[in-house]
Amino acid sequence: MATFTRIPDDERPSITVDPSAVISKIEDNTYGGFTEHMGRCIYGGIYDPGNPLSDENGFRTDVIDAFKELKVPVVRYPGGNFVATYHWLDGVGPKENRPPRPELAWIGTESNEFGTDEFLKWCEVVGTEPYFCLNFGTGTLDEALGWVEYCNSDRNSYYANLRRKNGREKPYNVKYWALGNECWGPWQVGQLTKEDYAKQAYQWAKALKLLDPSIELILCGETGHSSWDAYVIKECIKFDLHGLGGSTTASLVDMHSIHIYTASPDHNKNATAPRSAERAIQIAAGMIDVARIENGVPPSVRRQKICFDEWNVWDPVRAPGEEGAEEKYTLSDALAVAVWLNVFIRQSQHIGMATIAQSVNVISPLMTTKEGIVKQSTWWPLLLFSEFMRGSTIAVNVRSGEYLGDTEPAWIRGAIETPWLDVSAAINDGVVSLAVVNINDTKDFETELRGVSGKDVEVHSVNGTDVTVVNTESKQEVGITESKWDGEGLFTFPKHSLTILRWKL
Ligand code: AHR
Repeated sequence: MATFTRIPDDERPSITVDPSAVISKIEDNTYGGFTEHMGRCIYGGIYDPGNPLSDENGFRTDVIDAFKELKVPVVRYPGGNFVATYHWLDGVGPKENRPPRPELAWIGTESNEFGTDEFLKWCEVVGTEPYFCLNFGTGTLDEALGWVEYCNSDRNSYYANLRRKNGREKPYNVKYWALGNECWGPWQVGQLTKEDYAKQAYQWAKALKLLDPSIELILCGETGHSSWDAYVIKECIKFDLHGLGGSTTASLVDMHSIHIYTASPDHNKNATAPRSAERAIQIAAGMIDVARIENGVPPSVRRQKICFDEWNVWDPVRAPGEEGAEEKYTLSDALAVAVWLNVFIRQSQHIGMATIAQSVNVISPLMTTKEGIVKQSTWWPLLLFSEFMRGSTIAVNVRSGEYLGDTEPAWIRGAIETPWLDVSAAINDGVVSLAVVNINDTKDFETELRGVSGKDVEVHSVNGTDVTVVNTESKQEVGITESKWDGEGLFTFPKHSLTILRWKL
């Protein structure tokens, strides 16, 4: 949580950190990833058989190492829009028997060479947890139940035995399952009305939890600030003992998903756009409370959090999905990603999971070539946050000037502030981390820091020569620099930079 006090641009800013004011736990799953059968994310991304960089499973080892470096705790799969016509049975068993199928989200042919067992094996190699999305387009409840049984059951039953026949004796225990993806979208195969979706999601949730009460189900929301969100939350976040084995602490729906992409060719609009996501989280969290109050959900039932399972900088006109959505990220985009991550830290009390869309090649910080990987500008803030901004959110106040121009979307203005210094703070094992994004692309800010203790402050920064620079195979324009600060006097946050300061209490 952070509070903001606006001061004139020519006054000296100050930041006050209070390490004793611990607000809420930062879930490790805030640093989740997403791999969809789209563009070069799976084929040529995580799976590239025949490439010298791939292991005996066809998994790219440089990509695996990058996931490990980022400490990605959970990965969403197989879509995205792709899932609306995906039949998981096509992707299991001997590869020579798997049928190629027309793919209707991104208009291609899905070979089904990579499917459930390959993905789950890849997760085990990476050391990450899978998060599956169910087909609410052309899929059936029977098929969804079959998939959960295949992955999680240790019974002597059909799909559990099919898994054994396919070479996997013990269950995979996939915990997270999404009840469809963007079912509200006109681009979606099998688009639903909110009324039809809520009815279907609720009935599927009941059946899925009867089969496996250990799973967590994620409701398909929209942006978090829409009437779709309000309706499906109200209809599905209830107190219903059916399907829960009489438990008074469990619920059919465990999290509510929202998706937002931000982007603007104008740097100030680009860097402030993630503030819309912050307001969306607050609004959706409020809607969850309304549903719990009006539906009489007892406090013993764990409060449903937000699963922000698609977020990033993406302009689909600049990088169309049908062409693989290979965005080239600038320093401006890296700062926008840093503001996105600050949003999740500030709002940690409401965030159960967040998965960046996506993790390889498609709108991704990580790109593959045949010869290796390229870390885009957006990789660096993600790496620093995943490394340092864990543990618990602590209170911080920033006094600074504010960007007061137009925003994208326009409604940000009037709904939430857009300070030049965007901050969040965390404490983990007695070490305080303060993340400061100076979004101003022309001004350094000499800042008074209050609450910093110790003379040995680590300084980790992401910056570049100007906000338009990008990283390529041959040149890394944006990266991390490390230094020390003695904690004395004022600290200068350079123009267009992310700085993480760290000190021991
Ligand atoms: O992440 C790319 C696409 O964006 C996903 O498939 C879809 O869910 C969203 O519209």
